[in-house]
Amino acid sequence: LQSFKTKICCIGAGYVGGPTCAVIASKCADIKVTIVDINQARIDAWNSQDIPIYEPGLEEIVFAQRGKNLFFSTDVDAAILEADLIFVSVNTPTKKTGMGAGFAADLAYIEAATRRIALVAKSHKIVIEKSTVPCRTAESMRKILDANSRSDVTFDILSNPEFLAEGTAIKDLQNPDRVLIGSMQTPAGLKAQKALASVYARWVPQNRIVTTRLWSSELTKLASNALLAQRISSINALSAICEATGADVDEVSYACGLDSRIGPKFLKASVGFGGSCFQKDILNLVYLSQSLHLPEVADYWNQVVLMNEYQKRRFAESVVKTLFNTITNKNICILGFAFKKDTGDTRESAAIAMVKYFLKENANIRIYDPKVPESQMRYDLTVEDNVDVDIYNKRVKVCDTAYSAADGVDAIVVLTEWDEFKTLDYKRIYEKMTKPAFIFDGRLILPTAELKKIGYQTITIGKGDVE
Ligand code: UDX
Ligand code: UDX
Ligand code: ADP
Repeated sequence: LQSFKTKICCIGAGYVGGPTCAVIASKCADIKVTIVDINQARIDAWNSQDIPIYEPGLEEIVFAQRGKNLFFSTDVDAAILEADLIFVSVNTPTKKTGMGAGFAADLAYIEAATRRIALVAKSHKIVIEKSTVPCRTAESMRKILDANSRSDVTFDILSNPEFLAEGTAIKDLQNPDRVLIGSMQTPAGLKAQKALASVYARWVPQNRIVTTRLWSSELTKLASNALLAQRISSINALSAICEATGADVDEVSYACGLDSRIGPKFLKASVGFGGSCFQKDILNLVYLSQSLHLPEVADYWNQVVLMNEYQKRRFAESVVKTLFNTITNKNICILGFAFKKDTGDTRESAAIAMVKYFLKENANIRIYDPKVPESQMRYDLTVEDNVDVDIYNKRVKVCDTAYSAADGVDAIVVLTEWDEFKTLDYKRIYEKMTKPAFIFDGRLILPTAELKKIGYQTITIGKGDVE
């Protein structure tokens, strides 16, 4: 049996912990990486041929490293005991009740994981917060560790936020714009920072490994997501002006993006951003600003979320209005349910809000997404407020192909930018649709001129119909 010099434990086998630690294992053959989770089913899936997360390139890495220097286990304590470095990548959802409900992050999972480390550790550990957390969480973790551990055991806490985006996680991890490591500015803190930096230095150029103080690192994660989301809300706000005036938002976005001070990325108008991070992190920032008695700052960032809500509502309303102000008992095909392409993740997906809206208007919904299973859609649509399971059973049908979902419908609504939606045989689909055949492009990906030639009525976000 190989003996490893360094051992890493990752608590939380989710979208962040799984890919991050798989890439570390693939880049560092001499480091043993153990990913643990309390969710037995999730660990079983990671150990099977059918890993629980779809992410291009991930499966190959997991299959290549698993059993060599990459392990998945529910034995949290054993992994903590032997680890030199411990990543904490548990979930931090927005609080649903109590103080800060709807805004603040629920740190219960972080706290539980931290208490476990304190209880179990028998030697010095570097504890790394990887999950997105509000500023000063590291400070709370340090207090918990100090108060609950053996007197001869010491800890260093680092903040090492993850910037990977879903769908491109492996690429982002292998070639990151930067790796950020925050630490206390004490000799011990700086030594721990160096130890973690030396892991990343195996494949990340030195000038992309940025070291800062703890709180700067924690705030940078929230700030980065807020700035990215703000760009999307800005272009979506402009898309409303475009529709009202006949300008084309793609043209505006392209021309703005050529200014090197602005840049072209994250300026694609859409039905609204989704994903587990943007909304949650902005709401965190809003809560933080309020707690710091900075109401103007809180309002400023909150507007980014409000604009996103407005964009989703505006698009849903435009569907109803276009279909002669009623969609009762009409058949609507939804293409795409994930919050973006190349992922099966649906957290905060605009599609959830959209389908709920259409169901309230008594439409029949046929959904196709290449990666989201029916069980997930059912869960998303019925778990919280509004949709009754009976209504779901009666009105929602999940289909295996885009063609069966679009079969004979009144309207097609594209909500995720999956590549395959660009090249469907729209002529074949058109023939069976109710006329006039409407197609709504919530992602600005469809070949609109071709569709018009076939006979479709096309409605695209950010494109007025004035020529
Ligand atoms: C601006 C636009 O940059 C230019 O493209 C347009 O044609 C005219 O308006 P200008 O107002 O001349 O140009 O200067 P600019 O460099 O944009 O600065 C505007 C203000 O923003 C200044 O007060 C500047 O000090 C401030 N600024 C700029 C900041 O506070 N922070 C920055 O990072 C950049
Ligand atoms: C984001 C950040 O990009 C990443 O750095 C952070 O670590 C986690 O949060 P993610 O949510 O996985 O990543 O995906 P991202 O590509 O940022 O997209 C978020 C949402 O914005 C998606 O719904 C996407 O469709 C939407 N989006 C993105 C737009 O509507 N327009 C754009 O131009 C870009
Ligand atoms: P993220 O997108 O941040 O990775 P996920 O929800 O995908 O979030 O993953 C977080 C994982 O952390 C879940 O699989 C959850 O079971 C796990 N988890 C939460 N609390 C603990 C804990 N105390 N110990 C071990 N695993 C935990």
